[in-house]
Amino acid sequence: MKLPIIIVNFKAYTEGTGREAEHLAQICEKVAHETGKSIAIAVEEVDIHRISSLVDIPVLSEHFDPIGPGAHTGQNLPQALKDNGAYGTLLNHSEDRFRIDLLKESIELARDVGMKTVVCANDVEVAEAIATFEPDMIAIEPPELIGGDISVSTARPEVITNAVEKVRSVADIPVLCGAGIKTGADVKKALKLGAKGVLVASGVVRAGNPEKVLRELADAL
Ligand code: G3P
Repeated sequence: MKLPIIIVNFKAYTEGTGREAEHLAQICEKVAHETGKSIAIAVEEVDIHRISSLVDIPVLSEHFDPIGPGAHTGQNLPQALKDNGAYGTLLNHSEDRFRIDLLKESIELARDVGMKTVVCANDVEVAEAIATFEPDMIAIEPPELIGGDISVSTARPEVITNAVEKVRSVADIPVLCGAGIKTGADVKKALKLGAKGVLVASGVVRAGNPEKVLRELADAL
């Protein structure tokens, strides 16, 4: 995944699930190709195969379970996600928190099966702790701003600069930021504060015209 990057998290929004996810993924692919900017998407595990077969931008799973093959029922085997086209996975999103020991194990397991990891942190201390596990990217997202109208880069700029500094003191891992990102200005501010990209959901997925919004974000990258 080339930097700087926009990762669109489809979550479990109706607009980002099943057939609707196909349409949205094609829009993301189109904007990526036409602007030449780096855009990846995160989709529900059940949609991994459908979406990764359809588009040629990186497709991440929104979750995986740190298990190996065997007697596990109702869980997502990392190797199966990989075999079904997952380029990587989001881990520890505020809506899908991991215990810290499981997080370390998950990052190692993802590395073993050849999946990239974008690990979310809800605050700077967590970002610093996660850096010791050496994921591919860390995304800082203040939970109270997720799904809102004020972006992290406007409301909590210090969270981005502090996370960038703390992570850098541990390892050379790119830091993304997310929560409330909706405009090109939000993206520009985030990059100026040291982020290497953004994680965005509702601003694109739930937009009346997702292509227009995503194009504005991409142009600002
Ligand atoms: O994963 C991205 C996310 O949590 C941010 O959500 O809706 O504020 O862009 P949103």
